Amino acid sequence: MDLPFEPYRIKVVEKIQRVSREERVRHLREAGYNVFKVPSEAIYVDLLTDSGTSAMSDQQWAAMMTADEAYACSTSYADFENTIRDIFGYKHVIPTHQGRAAEGLLFSVAVAAGAVIPNNIHFDTTRANVEHVGGIALDCVADAGLDPMLEAPFKGDMSLTKLAAAFEKYGTERIPFVMLTITNNSGGGQPVSMGNAREVSAFCKKMGVPLIFDACRFAENAWFIQQREEGYADMDIKSICREMFALGEGCTMSAKKDALVNIGGFVCINDDELAMNITNLGILREGFPTYGGMAGRDLAAVAQGLREVMDPDYLAYRIGQVARLGKRLDELGVPYLRPTGGHAVYLDARKALPHIPQEEFPAQVFTAALYLEGGVRGVEIGSLMFDHLDPDTGETVHPAMELVRLAIPRRVYTHTQLDYVAEVCAQVMEMGDRLRGLEIVWEPPALRHFTAKLKPVGGGKMVAEA
Ligand code: F0G
Repeated sequence: MDLPFEPYRIKVVEKIQRVSREERVRHLREAGYNVFKVPSEAIYVDLLTDSGTSAMSDQQWAAMMTADEAYACSTSYADFENTIRDIFGYKHVIPTHQGRAAEGLLFSVAVAAGAVIPNNIHFDTTRANVEHVGGIALDCVADAGLDPMLEAPFKGDMSLTKLAAAFEKYGTERIPFVMLTITNNSGGGQPVSMGNAREVSAFCKKMGVPLIFDACRFAENAWFIQQREEGYADMDIKSICREMFALGEGCTMSAKKDALVNIGGFVCINDDELAMNITNLGILREGFPTYGGMAGRDLAAVAQGLREVMDPDYLAYRIGQVARLGKRLDELGVPYLRPTGGHAVYLDARKALPHIPQEEFPAQVFTAALYLEGGVRGVEIGSLMFDHLDPDTGETVHPAMELVRLAIPRRVYTHTQLDYVAEVCAQVMEMGDRLRGLEIVWEPPALRHFTAKLKPVGGGKMVAEA
């Protein structure tokens, strides 16, 4: 039988419901066609994010009950630190309440105004945190990673040519470090190969610049390496992770992904002086260095989650479930970025809704329609999230792709629920050119996709009457 088998059984359940179409129409209108503002009790299958939405194990809950809430030097922190050192191998471990806080601390101490940070593709908070301190966030993913229909094993790989060009253009003195996001969330949850990480690492060493991983989904990335890269089939996941992290000098991590918890994060760094500066700023912003914005029980849950996430049965099920959703979409003719990623399927809204120009947010239209048709919540990763001004010309640049991400929470939804999601996607496809574009009514100065309000272009309904 070719099914991704769940390596667990269900001990606790949570009620969800499908509200009526009329209610969904009302919620969508009140939310300004932005599903971030739709109340969660009106959502049936919530694929907004895989971040902080994992179901924790009985072992994690047990660890939370026996955690140490001491303000300083708790045993739960010791467990947290030891577990992270064991996997990541870096000298200093600094806890933060989530990933963006880790980025904020690192960038505040290491990125000066005018500095340039190359990455395969910056996640939106990473880009915003770089720009917040006056830096330039530069995406250097290899061209294969920008071609939604190309089937390739490691579409998260960085282009060494683009990286070298960045050093050529800006000079080494303006580049304090290079980042590599594993897996590459904004480019489709696609993995980075060990071979590529090795090349990037060697280049960074040659330039005398550290390599820092954005490690949110490191275990999923390692699973892809084990499955797809020559020479790794017989290596266990932890050894692959260690080999990968040994190529860098530190990482930022949102524990809300591959630590299987609802909150948490950390920065790791080898450099003593950087670590001291991050720690000092962390005391100001996050708390004492042995809790960093988390309760003792959160630290304990992270430590246990990190031990669980490298289980090959879990990873086979996890990534298999995402791949299975992709297979259902294939059968129904719904276009998505190929191949499916580690944590999500990214629908190709430009292909699905070719009549809507990028100025009218085709991926946001598809996202709104998924909620309207089936109470399914995905997230737009397109112009609404990623339009930016060209630093040289000052003109608006649209992103290369218009995607709708269906991110699968870890250990949460059943195969039946994901089959339902595939059917709703097909229904939206069938609406086709009855769907109209959206325009912005209000937007904040940064990270606008979270709170922007939109309306159908020219007013009226989003779906034209048949
Ligand atoms: N880096 C990457 C690659 C991420 O995917 C995220 C979060 C962060 C950093 C920031 O971490 O949320 O803990 O502050 N991604 C979530 C998502 C929000 O939905 O993809 P955070």
